[in-house]
Amino acid sequence: MQERLKELQAEALDKIAQAADLKELNDIRVAFLGKKGPITEVLKGMGKLSAEERPKMGALANEVRDAISSQIEARQTELEAAAVELKLAAEKIDVTLPGRPVKAGNHHPLTRIIEEIEDLFIGMGYTVAEGPEVEQDYYNFEALNLPKGHPARDMQDSFYITEEILLRTHTSPVQARTMEKRQGKGPVKIICPGKVYRRDNDDATHSHQFTQIEGLVIDENIRLSDLKGTLDVFAKKMFGADREIRLRPSFFPFTEPSVEMDISCKMCGGHGCSTCKGTGWIEILGAGMVHPNVLEMAGYDSKRYTGFAFGMGPERIAMLKYGIDDIRHFYTNDIRFLKQFSVTE
Ligand code: PHE
Repeated sequence: MQERLKELQAEALDKIAQAADLKELNDIRVAFLGKKGPITEVLKGMGKLSAEERPKMGALANEVRDAISSQIEARQTELEAAAVELKLAAEKIDVTLPGRPVKAGNHHPLTRIIEEIEDLFIGMGYTVAEGPEVEQDYYNFEALNLPKGHPARDMQDSFYITEEILLRTHTSPVQARTMEKRQGKGPVKIICPGKVYRRDNDDATHSHQFTQIEGLVIDENIRLSDLKGTLDVFAKKMFGADREIRLRPSFFPFTEPSVEMDISCKMCGGHGCSTCKGTGWIEILGAGMVHPNVLEMAGYDSKRYTGFAFGMGPERIAMLKYGIDDIRHFYTNDIRFLKQFSVTE
């Protein structure tokens, strides 16, 4: 019996030393020290021993059991430490590795131009106003001195939704809406950026949807010279201090007199080249003094109040400023095009 116990101890210690992980170690514990284990089995035979031998054998059995369990404990500590080491090694990060660059997005070039123009006018005391893109015929045309059947409606081919509702063809309806809200009171000083829609076939210079920025100033004693001064500041800030402007007579039903503004061509300095088609000037926007009918329809006393308005296309301005040759680049979102306006790369 003594030998059997010694054998078991040797066998157990050997297995413990070889245990590769905590689970295996626990299996060994259960196998050797458990109730159904071989040591318990051996001790069951104690009844057959003599009275002197019994305590000796009992002591020996305890020794064997203690030796095994202390060995298990020691091995367990070892294995636990090894597991921690392994985990640390697996989770190690090399803080000296170069970082992965984060790709930052950018504002669309059109958004940037619109914000630039907004900032410029905000700096001159304007506030930004907005209006709906799905608009009533009344605000898009009638309130702007374009009654039904007026031939000038043909200047802007429209997408009608019903007889009375259409996609706005310009940002001028925001003028009419703003004036109506102010109930005949001045001063008004706003710019209105937004999307507009026209039934045009898309090509390098036309798009069925594009953007406009409208400006409107109403107060007592507003004159054409105020419009000219404002547009001159705008042109010089936007395109460079050396640019000149000129106003040409034009026609819009909602302004009288109406003008179109040109800036001197940057390419040739005004001498004439292919960019300005030999004229030395490039057309930028439409403008004029608010027509008395428009003022009166919105509730203003046109004897007391006068005003000016202008409307420009940010696409055209961006195209001139950055030398972009096709308006469709703004809408097709080719990443190679957009990247050229990136501020981070
Ligand atoms: N609404 C005009 C257009 O889209 C531009 C404009 C605005 C002209 C304001 C004069 C005054 O063509």
